[in-house]
Order: sequence, then structure tokens, then C-alpha cells
Amino acid sequence: DSLDSDPYRPNFHFTPKEKWMNDPNGLVYQNGQYHLFFQYYPDSTVWGPMHWGHAVSKDLLNWKEKPIALYPDSLGYIFSGSAVIDKNNTAGFGQDAMVAIFTYHNPEIEKTGSEKFQTQGIAYSLDEGETWTKYKGNPVIENPGIRDFRDPKVFWNEDLEKWQMLLAAKDHIEFFESEDLKDWKKLSDFRFNDQPELGVWECPDLFELQVAGSNEKKWVLIVSHGGESSPNGGSGTRYFVGEFDGKKFTTQQKESQWLDFGTDNYAGVSFNNVPDGRRIVIGWMSNWNYATTTPTKDWRSAMTLARELELMKDDRGYILKTTPVRELASVSKNIKMEQNTTEKGLEIKSEELSNSIISFEIDNPEGFNLVLANDSGNTYEIGYKDGTFYTNRKNSGIVDFNEKFTEKEPQKIPLGDLEKMKLKLIIDKSSIEIFLNEGEYAMTNLVYPKSPWNTLKIEHDENTKIKDLKTQKVNLILANA
Ligand code: FRU
Repeated sequence: DSLDSDPYRPNFHFTPKEKWMNDPNGLVYQNGQYHLFFQYYPDSTVWGPMHWGHAVSKDLLNWKEKPIALYPDSLGYIFSGSAVIDKNNTAGFGQDAMVAIFTYHNPEIEKTGSEKFQTQGIAYSLDEGETWTKYKGNPVIENPGIRDFRDPKVFWNEDLEKWQMLLAAKDHIEFFESEDLKDWKKLSDFRFNDQPELGVWECPDLFELQVAGSNEKKWVLIVSHGGESSPNGGSGTRYFVGEFDGKKFTTQQKESQWLDFGTDNYAGVSFNNVPDGRRIVIGWMSNWNYATTTPTKDWRSAMTLARELELMKDDRGYILKTTPVRELASVSKNIKMEQNTTEKGLEIKSEELSNSIISFEIDNPEGFNLVLANDSGNTYEIGYKDGTFYTNRKNSGIVDFNEKFTEKEPQKIPLGDLEKMKLKLIIDKSSIEIFLNEGEYAMTNLVYPKSPWNTLKIEHDENTKIKDLKTQKVNLILANA
């Protein structure tokens, strides 16, 4: 397949040129470039011995894939983790060294039946991630006897002038601190005694955000869960809003809150060292339920768009809003799409729909149903009825590659009654990202239509009004060029 004849290769989402990819790793900014490392297996389009792939971007949209950064070694495969810039040379690897902190997964130890097969290691690069040296003293954190002990996120705590780490330990989070990235001291555990059926804890992140429109600051803890945890099935990511005193994270929150209600946003973590202070996350746009069987050929998996996080507070409590990064505006332009009014609503026709951003407002949204369609008779539905927002991909094209793909359709978000709704749909060749009310809710779904979308039809209840419809085209045809 040549890249542009591949029907499912996204136009503006990162995919590896070839082979298997999962979690984003080591997200870090240095000298004008965003670095995206990722779980990568260069020998197959399904998961295998993990490496860290690498790509760089100036705008979080146009990426350039680089040589593989980290290869497995005698201590194990290279599982997920983070990267920091060591400005004060605390580790002694060199001024401004890029240091990766990752999990070693040792299959040999796993085979012996021991639980201690995951440890933490570090490596450094003095040339912006091109070449890497593993630290001789690895592992820097031994396994304490917990079989899932992984995905270290490290950040520099400005106030304490210390490195802080959190990692996922089976069914809780563990916190550590260090002066030099080598010697780590355990600080505390965070547990949340709900839903015992929640799958294994993975890929945590922790950062402080200012509450919009106030001086209040809060810490946000993010954690991904395997199994059938997420609201609409399979793996998903939730968050907690609370306090972190440099040692311990606490929250008053009583229930789980979800970063995304769709099936296809997992293992998301945020960039370190972003100069303008924005908190930017990228997630893996798939789901362990069916990730290895999606109908793409030479490559597998894409990343979500980079998204900015903002914390807001209202009578529902704290809400972590996610919106696509503002850089998206610089690669999109308004275009006219043919528009017809129908008996019950309106219809848009355009060959650009599979590469578009459609936004509108809905006044008095009692009920509406939006159908994205193509010439092959495939449909993807979005709607709102009886206080519930939903999407449905049951008839969206190729769906039979895995029974789990449509097992829980329609996917739902319980919203309650609303006076107004704002919708932004970001449509690429094999994905739809929905941002509701400026990102108060997000829904990310993979889809494999048999031909490009070319019709969008909205039908609505009598009292419901659609207004401020904006149609845009994204001017990017290959995110990894
Ligand atoms: C999450 C995850 C991580 C692990 C990695 C292995 O998707 O299971 O916990 O480090 O993938 O590839």
C-alpha cells in the first residue's frame, strides 16, 4: 500500500509508518520541538517485545518519525514511561540531558512464576533524543513483589526542587521522590476504594492546574484502567481532582470521572517542560479489547489529537475539560459545504467530510439525531435523547473484525437536561473525536467506513434549533510525513 492509497491511514493523526504502536511515552518539549515516544514493536503489526519509537513535531500536528530510541536489553522489554529535561544536571549525565524513565518488563523472570518481573530503569540522550545510553546502575527501582508495577511518570517539583515520580502498582498508585533521578525514595500510596472490578491501574499522571476564572489551584491525578473499566466498554482513563503536598495525593471526590467517554482514548499522559505552561495530553486512539485486530494493513494504531486540559468548577464539581490543541486552527480553514434544509433539519454534502471539523450550537436540545453517511450505506450516528448523549457505530463500515468493537453500542454519556449544547466533530479517515460544550465531555471513536463519508444529516425535535454551523477542512494529508 502506498501511504495515500491506504483508506484508513489518518490525515492528521499520528501513525507509525509501519508496524505496531500503543501508548504514548516520554512526552517532552525541548528546543522548539515536541517529542513523542511510543510503545513500538518493529517486527509485527501486533504487540510484541516493546521498544520506544520516536517522532518529533513543532506544532503537535505535523510529525516526523525518527529512528527507534530504546531497544529491549537483558533487563527486559521497554514498557511505558516518561521523559524529563535535566536542566540542573542533577543526574550528572550532562547539562539539559533528556532522561527517559521507563519500566523494564522481564519475560524471563515472568516465566519463572515470580511476580517481580517489572522494575524501573532510566536512559539519557544528549542529542535531543537521537541516540540513547542506558544507565549502568539500572534498575533504579526494584520490584517490591507486585506483579503490575509500571509506567513511571516523573516531573520536576518546582516548589520542593525535587524529582517526583508516580507509578501504577496493580490497584493503586505509588509516589516516590529523588534528587538525582537514580536514587528513589518511596513516599506514599493512593487508593480509591470503589468499583473493585476496575481493571489493572496503568499510565498515571499528576499535575497542578488553576481553576478557570479563579485563583484556586488543584492537583489532577490521571489513571488508565484495563479490563472492562470504561463507561462504554474496554480500557479507559479516569481522573481525580484533589491535593498533593509533595508526599501524598488526597481527594474529596466520591465517584470516578472520565477523561473521555468513547472507546478509543487510552493511556493518555501529558507533556513535560512545555514552555507556555499549557497542559497537553496525547492518548493512544484504541482499546485493548480489539486493538490488535483493527482492519489496517502495514501499520496499527493512531494517536488522538493532542488536547489541552483546563480545570473548571460549577455545581457539578470540578470538571477537567479537554479541547483539541489551538494549533489545529492553523491547519484548518473554513470551507463551504453544500447545505440543504430538509423537513426535519438539514443535510450537508461534501467530499471533504472525512477530513473535516464540523461545529454547531443546539438551542433547546430536546432531541436530535445526526447521521454521517457514505455511498456504501455505512452510517455513524450521534444524538441526544431523554438527557442522554449517544453515538452508534454498529453500521459504520468494517465492524466484524472483532465482536467487542460493537458490543456496547450505542455508547452513552449521561448529561441530564441541557438548555444549550455545543458540538465539535473532528472527522478523520478512521476516527471521530467529539467535543461537547467546549470539552466538558469528550467522545473518541474509531470507525472503518467502506468509502469516505460524504453526507451529514441532522434531524431534530420541533423546538430544537441548530445554529452557528461552521464547516472546516483540515489541510494536512499525512501527519507523519
Ligand atoms: C498500557 C500498557 C502499559 C504498559 C504498556 C505495554 O496500554 O499496558 O501499562 O507499560 O501498555 O506495552
